[in-house]
Amino acid sequence: LLSTIGPDSLFRMILSKCPSERTPEELELVYEELLHVKALAHLSTMVKRELAAVIGIETHNNAGTVIFHQGDPGACWYIILRGAVDVSIRGKGVVCTLREGDDFGKLALVNESKRAATIILRDDEAQILRDVEANTVRLKEHGQDVLVLEKVFTPRGAVVQGRQESHCTYSVMAGLAEKMLEYLLETRIDAQEEDVTSVNPTLQDFLLTHPIYMPTNILCNSLKKYYTRHPMVTSIFPSTDVVIQEDTEQILTAKRRVVTFVALWVKTLGLHYFLDPSANSFIEELYCCVLEDAQTLPGMSPVLSRMKSCREARDRVMLSLSRHSQIVLDCGVYAPTSTAPHCLPIDTCRQVFRHPDASTFVLTVRMDKRVADVIEMCRPHIRSSASQEMLVLTEVKSNGERLVLAPNDISLPTMLTLNGKLFVSAREEVDHLMVHDGENGPIPSGTSVLDLYGSAELATQLGFFHMELFHATNELETIAQVFGRDAFPGHIPSNLDLLLRRFNEVQYWATTEVLVSPAPKRVQSLRKLIKIAHYSKQQGDLLSLFAIVLGLSNVAVSRLSMTWEKLPSRVKRMFSELESLLDPTRNHRAYRSLIAKMQPPFVPFIPLLLKDLTFIHEGNKTFFNGLVNFEKMHMIANVIRTFKECKASASGVTGILHRDEKPDSQLHIRNLRVIDDQRRLLEMSYLIEPKMS
Ligand code: CMP
Repeated sequence: LLSTIGPDSLFRMILSKCPSERTPEELELVYEELLHVKALAHLSTMVKRELAAVIGIETHNNAGTVIFHQGDPGACWYIILRGAVDVSIRGKGVVCTLREGDDFGKLALVNESKRAATIILRDDEAQILRDVEANTVRLKEHGQDVLVLEKVFTPRGAVVQGRQESHCTYSVMAGLAEKMLEYLLETRIDAQEEDVTSVNPTLQDFLLTHPIYMPTNILCNSLKKYYTRHPMVTSIFPSTDVVIQEDTEQILTAKRRVVTFVALWVKTLGLHYFLDPSANSFIEELYCCVLEDAQTLPGMSPVLSRMKSCREARDRVMLSLSRHSQIVLDCGVYAPTSTAPHCLPIDTCRQVFRHPDASTFVLTVRMDKRVADVIEMCRPHIRSSASQEMLVLTEVKSNGERLVLAPNDISLPTMLTLNGKLFVSAREEVDHLMVHDGENGPIPSGTSVLDLYGSAELATQLGFFHMELFHATNELETIAQVFGRDAFPGHIPSNLDLLLRRFNEVQYWATTEVLVSPAPKRVQSLRKLIKIAHYSKQQGDLLSLFAIVLGLSNVAVSRLSMTWEKLPSRVKRMFSELESLLDPTRNHRAYRSLIAKMQPPFVPFIPLLLKDLTFIHEGNKTFFNGLVNFEKMHMIANVIRTFKECKASASGVTGILHRDEKPDSQLHIRNLRVIDDQRRLLEMSYLIEPKMS
């Protein structure tokens, strides 16, 4: 590289002078030389001129010289003009060699952390430029990129990672999951040591998205490895007493970081942390390690007490898990639960099974049971002659369509359509399976829930229930929904599916109510539903709001012009205002500005949230050359964070969730009877207002 710079003695002489003593001519000369340095090519003229005034040069003549040690405070960046250096990390040894044109030492400055590696001279001759700018920090190990950071510009005065930033900062663009973890442990934990009340955003991104690229059991293994790793004493660390002391400090720091990381992880996921079996058992495993170390290592007592609080949190959760019943689909209906709160995922379900002869039996099925397992559970209930045959499970939908379920499907109850019925039969019988009329949806003359209660009461009860369902969802379910379940073996879909199923149900309910209303009451029903939607909006139950608006926009209802005409104009206006919130233009601007003004907790419009996630997923690769695309993870984490934020603080929510007795209206709204066959809905609509010929 130097050969392109020309006679370097003058250049070196100027750079070895104190910057304040450089004359304008000398600065000009340095600037001209910098124009030839490839590693600086991306910099603007102005930055290069500024650099000319601040850079210095270091010349080293002995291989093995340490430029700085891992753990030292960092004050400058370096570029290698000639020679090479080794990058060595405790516990790993030499991870890579940097040569002419490469740079190092930016990481500590970028992260305001300690040096992440020791830099050792490899050759007997080396020249290094100090203090250089760069847009990209690329960390390599054994010839492969392991972490790529890039400078991102933020508007002046924006708050970045909790502090007021000037105008630029670095963020991790891509990397190996394992290196990212190491990076977070070394740069994002120390500042959190005292304060685990709010979690650093980069760390939170990782905690919210790791299942995509680092399954929990692997993450736990890596943490354990980091916790137990022992600094390798290499030739650059002669084994003097001083060095051994420093190593003990390092060992303690590593252990403290892992335990703080786990405490922040528990804080971020709350109850859901403990529902993951590998994460749950990791608490006990780590606790045992900490307990053992506390016997021998001085300084472990704060680590032990932090670990103890994680363990206590787990005990509390496990106790509440065993004590409270859950939201369960009981034969297609959300079972009325007698005991209080439940933010728990459903794991079992009662389900009606039918024989081809229309007789029925009920089984309690775990959500993670595959269709093939369920068939085996059904076998004893089958007539003896057929019980030895190949059996299949078939869903017969309310429109008569038959769907034979695949043996590996799981989560049967949430998979069924609203009025779908499950048949267990021999394969030859599938074509004859039928649901009899009258089994589908409400009897038109039956009393409507709209006749029983006022719109405010109905909206309130819908709101309670939907808030309850929403609180029981786990934000990580949204990821599984979008990335596809196959990508998450062992993941049992549950509460999010229940919520989406409910959204569908409320939609059909609104359509059904208008169509089954007898003529004199139809306008009244329509009006009442619009008012419920209006109250739902005020109460933050956007699920009911949008489901009702969409249900009334179903063509079977929207075409009933004679009914709509009779609505008071005030109510008509109310409806079009609500409808305009669904306007998709300008990326759903109407909806987004509505929720920006809302105070959590509220139930968001989940389908749109899933659409945002899908958009991010499909528009961005998850991996680049084997590195995780953390920019994508950051975008995903942002969506998940909004989902979490809607749930908001415990205050206010507890009043809703911890209600012991449920009024009758609550039981009614959990058991809405709907017609989910679009053809039948249209037929009813044509009977009310015949087609214009
Ligand atoms: P810094 O942490 O300031 O000091 C050590 C430097 O080594 C670090 O910045 C990086 O610039 C450089 N480095 C190169 N490869 C790696 C790596 N794999 N891990 C950590 N640091 C590395």
